[in-house]
Amino acid sequence: MTPAEPVAPADAPATTPASAPAASEAARAGVQAAPREGAPVPMQTEGLSAYFGRFHAVGGIDLVFPERSVTAIIGPSGCGKSTFLRCLNRMHELVPGARAEGGAFLRGRDIYGGEADAVAIRRAVGMVFQRPNPFPTRSIADNVRAGPRFNHLKLERPEELVERTLRGAGLWDEVKNRLEEPAGGLSGGQQQRLCIARALAVEPEVLLMDEPCSALDPQSTLRVEDLIRELKARLTIIIVTHNMQQAARVSDRTAFFTIENEGEPGHLVEVGPTEQIFSHPTNPRTEAYVTGRFG
Ligand SMILES: Nc1ncnc2c1ncn2[C@@H]1O[C@H](COP(=O)(O)OP(=O)(O)OP(=O)(O)O)[C@@H](O)[C@H]1O
Ligand SMILES: [Mg+2]
Repeated sequence: MTPAEPVAPADAPATTPASAPAASEAARAGVQAAPREGAPVPMQTEGLSAYFGRFHAVGGIDLVFPERSVTAIIGPSGCGKSTFLRCLNRMHELVPGARAEGGAFLRGRDIYGGEADAVAIRRAVGMVFQRPNPFPTRSIADNVRAGPRFNHLKLERPEELVERTLRGAGLWDEVKNRLEEPAGGLSGGQQQRLCIARALAVEPEVLLMDEPCSALDPQSTLRVEDLIRELKARLTIIIVTHNMQQAARVSDRTAFFTIENEGEPGHLVEVGPTEQIFSHPTNPRTEAYVTGRFG
């Protein structure tokens, strides 16, 4: 196993102020508290590794995702960005033979602890995928309601939820007169914002986005980026992107992953404020990547 390189998250507080919102969702998810002081950050990993059977895909990742921040994960294809992301809401283990090792903490509680409830964790840590994947034959409104229904959340005022969530996803004005029409009739960019709405409908604390704009045109991409900036006011967002300009535009912090040799695990090279990673990275491999000389 390749040891993780030292990272310098000096700017990343391991705890948030005592006034931070309570760990309600984590508590409901039944995950165990990690032994550390202060109000814990929304998401943190310690020595997190992911395997597909015997293949060690990602190794020893230590990362802190602060309250109301956007972290971009960048790196060459196959270095384990998507795999790492899927470990953060226990989707990785849905692949037969796949498992994670090490710690991943949702507000200080170990999501891999014995009492943790994977379904509740996936509600607290939402995910948006590369290709928009709404339920195409179901109505736009039904797509928004699908998350809460699946999670058996009682909907006090379903119509209010649909409007509030679609507004939150920046889609309301475009769809308010066709809420009962099939979601498959929306454009790709609208479908992706609908998927973001579906993820938001269960009020996650953390939103994982795996190349959410790679199938979108430039206009739709900018709309999703605007949305990410708005959502940051209340969510912690982790976004994988191959688009350096996008990472620079939307993220506060950037983590660079790479892989040394074929068959070795991907690992974290460095993490820091996005501005610094793009202008003065400390590691020459990061510099080579962000300037387009490799990867
Ligand atoms: N279901 C799977 N079974 C076995 N190996 C897998 C599986 N999914 C991914 N891998 C392997 O794990 C490693 C990391 O893959 P991953 O998809 O996380 O990379 P990535 O950084 O997201 O790449 P990309 O930028 O191309 O999306 C790769 O070697 C990949 O082949
Ligand atoms: Mg990927």
